[in-house]
This record gives sequence, structure tokens and C-alpha cells, in this order.
Amino acid sequence: MSVQSPTVSEARLLSVLDTAVDGIVVIDERGRIMVFNKACEELFGRTAAEVTGLGIAVLMPPEFSDHHDAWVNHYLRTGEKKIIGIGREVRGRHADGTVFPIELSVGECRTPEGRQFIGIIRDLRSRKAVEQRLNQLQAQLVQMARVNAMDEMGAAIAHELNQPLTAVMLYLQALSRKLKLGEEEGAIDASLVEIVAKTVREAERAGAIIQKMRHFVEKREPDRQAVDVGKLVDEALELTLLGHDGAGIEVVRDLADHLPLLDVDPVQIQQVLINLIRNGIEAVRGRDDRWIRIAARVDDGRLLFEVEDSGDGIPKEKVRDLFKAFATSKKQGLGLGLAISRSIAQNHGGDLLVEPGGAGRGATFVLSLPLETADPRTE
Ligand SMILES: Nc1ncnc2c1ncn2[C@@H]1O[C@H](COP(=O)(O)OP(=O)(O)O)[C@@H](O)[C@H]1O
Ligand SMILES: [Mg+2]
Repeated sequence: MSVQSPTVSEARLLSVLDTAVDGIVVIDERGRIMVFNKACEELFGRTAAEVTGLGIAVLMPPEFSDHHDAWVNHYLRTGEKKIIGIGREVRGRHADGTVFPIELSVGECRTPEGRQFIGIIRDLRSRKAVEQRLNQLQAQLVQMARVNAMDEMGAAIAHELNQPLTAVMLYLQALSRKLKLGEEEGAIDASLVEIVAKTVREAERAGAIIQKMRHFVEKREPDRQAVDVGKLVDEALELTLLGHDGAGIEVVRDLADHLPLLDVDPVQIQQVLINLIRNGIEAVRGRDDRWIRIAARVDDGRLLFEVEDSGDGIPKEKVRDLFKAFATSKKQGLGLGLAISRSIAQNHGGDLLVEPGGAGRGATFVLSLPLETADPRTE
């Protein structure tokens, strides 16, 4: 075995560093760049030859570089670690001036020539882009839920008001007839009759407005397209856990193999899944065993989604009104989630049912949607 000269082993080390996916940079005690691997060259748009010997500050935006020397000096003087051994999200600066997020881990090694610091750098841009997209999606969903809730509230109010208003109209009409008789007999003032007639007309106008509201909401058709079930479930889970603190809740995802595509309005069905998952999360809050299970399978020409949780289930007396608008047991709840969800399911030709659980079992909500029956002509 021959003894390798330092340059050979150094060259070997550098070539190994160059195969690394992460950026690797080594600096000396004074912050001067000694090693700058291929991944770094890509990341920062500079060559190793160009930056070797320069201060590390060239790789940072000014607000970091201003402090960096002070940090290094502080560490060298006091030994107090601000970043060494700790991964940290910081910013890098490309040769073209662009500033981008990176994760930086720093290690230290002592060499005969003094201390050196090794930085391992990971580009965070793609992860950031995904996070941003998710945030956007969630903002959209929140907005949509609001619009949807308002529609649904309108429908619920229209429905609830319709009955008393009809009764008012019938009473007024009866009153109006009696007054007219009285007027003919000269017992009642004509102006009174006129006032009641006006009241009847206004009540009729209110009735017409409510009819229009009901029509407007009921006519909205789902905007259907072919949708992948797994994607639907994953996005719903992601969006729910992102917004709520899903922390500490175990999520069991239980999808059958080879599920067919669904022909549904993805936004609306996602809304249903999100409502069910949120209810599940709210039902297990504060318990020791917290899990939700979301399953999808095909049964008898229908696609069944099941959302089950480890909560207390639903008391018998509550089950009857569960899907009605404004039925809620929560201080902050509107009690519209299940009402909206069931009407979406039914608009799709499906349904939303509940196995209430209880006695140690949580509730299971079952969303069933028809699968398209194959057209015999195309077979
Ligand atoms: N998974 C569940 N476990 C126990 N109770 C539930 C569950 N889902 C819904 N509920 C009950 O049904 C009610 C209505 O739910 P929902 O229509 O989503 O309105 P909200 O969540 O605003 O109260 C809830 O307040 C709760 O009492
Ligand atoms: Mg709810």
C-alpha cells in the first residue's frame, strides 16, 4: 500500500463532495471559503475557482452577511453556539442577486491549520412552492366554505321562513275577507280594508322573494369531472390538518386498491370530506386516544367514503336532527357542515348517512356516490 500524498486524498475528497446532492461549503476561522462543491456552484451560480478564498458573505443577502462575521467572532470568543449542530432556515444569495430560502446545517472540525466549519445547504425553494400552493388552496377553500355556507344559510332561512309566512298570508286573507263583509255592512272603515289589502300584497311579495331564493340555491348543478379518489382524500386531509391543529391525531388512510375514477364536482366533494374530517378532529379533541380513519371502497356500484373517529359518538336523541341546518352542540359551530354536506351528496345522486356509534365507539359518517354505469353502446 502506498502512502497517498495529501493532494491525492484531497482531490478524492473533493470528487466525493461533488457527487453530493446538497451544497457543501467549508470555511476557515476567518470565514474564507475553502471548499465549494458542484451542488453549491449550481445553487449560487458561481464557480469554486471564483469564490475560493473569498469571504462567505458573498453567498448571503446583506442582512445576513452584516451579522455573520460578528456571529463567528462571538462563537470563537465564547464558544456559544448559535447555529452549529442545529439545522436552520436561512437565506442564500445567487450571483444574479436573487435571494432564496435554504436549510443550513453547520458542523465544526479542528484541523492543524485551525478550526474549520462545514456547511451543508439544502435548497428549500420547491418545498416553499408546495407550501405556498397549499396555503393558497386553503385560502380558496375557506372562502368557498363561506360562500357555500351563505348559500346554504339562505336556503335554510328561506325554508324556515316559508312556513310562518304562508300562515301569515292565510290569516291575513281570512282577515281581509271578514273586513270586506263588515265594510259592505257599513260597520267597518274602508281605509282599514285598504290597509289589510296592502299588508297581504307585501306578504305575497316576501313569499315570492323567498321562492326565488330557494330556486336559486336548489338549481345549482355540480360541475362534474373525472376525479382520482386518492387525490381527493389526500388533499382533503392535507388541507384539514394544515388549518386545524391536527397535532397528535393519528390519521389512518384506508383506501381500497384500484378505485375507479369518480364523476363528481371535486370542489364540492372535497368540501364534504373536509367537513367530515373537521368534525372528526373536533370530536377527538382533548382525548388520550385520538385518531380518525378515512376509508374508500366500492360497494354495489357505489363508491363509499367512510370517516370514523375515536370520539364519543353521537347521542341517540341528537341523531334525528343532525343533518338539519343550525343543529350544533358547539359554541363556535354554525351547525351547517352536515346540512351542506348532505345536500351536496344528494345533488350528486348520492347520500350522506351516519352510524352514530356510542358506548365506546366514535361516529362513522358514510358518503356514498354513484359510480357511472357503463354505457352498453360503447362496450
Ligand atoms: N364525528 C362526530 N362525532 C360526534 N358528534 C358529531 C360528529 N360530527 C358531527 N357531530 C355533531 O353534529 C353537530 C353538527 O355538525 P355540523 O353540521 O358539522 O355543524 P358544527 O360542526 O358547526 O356544529 C355537531 O355540533 C356535533 O354535535
Ligand atoms: Mg362541522
